[in-house]
Amino acid sequence: MELLPIGEVAARSGLAPSALRHYEAEGLIAASRTPGGARRFPRSVLRRLAFVRAAQNVGLSLPEIREALATLPDARTPSAGDWARLSAGWRDRLDAQIAALEQLRDGLSSCIGCGCLSLTACALSNPGDAAAAEGPGARRLSPLLRRLPPAGRAG
Ligand code: FES
Repeated sequence: MELLPIGEVAARSGLAPSALRHYEAEGLIAASRTPGGARRFPRSVLRRLAFVRAAQNVGLSLPEIREALATLPDARTPSAGDWARLSAGWRDRLDAQIAALEQLRDGLSSCIGCGCLSLTACALSNPGDAAAAEGPGARRLSPLLRRLPPAGRAG
């Protein structure tokens, strides 16, 4: 089996070596070690990393991705069939994120040119004064949207 050093995996995947080490620590990918302690990854790690990136783009957290990968027998790399099965369950999640974004957009339109961000009057800042019942701190961004990774995040 061809084994790749971390630098090559980083170059091919577009992920930083630090991200790869983090994913390994999180149990998303696995590496063997050379006698000198350097990481060596199987080539299949590239597909596994593509799966992780796609799942992150859907908004899954690393623990959720680890949970999804753990459903695969023998910790195998996701096949096309695996991807189809796992991603089918993510459509509802994307729909909910889209709905939350639409709600955010609709609130924003009434705020354009205002800027008050009033906790009592602003539909975006505190619609229906719902925040008071939810506790202190920023409450207006849907939990679904809080989980969205920034575009291009290395991970
Ligand atoms: S910023 Fe003034 S109402 Fe939202």
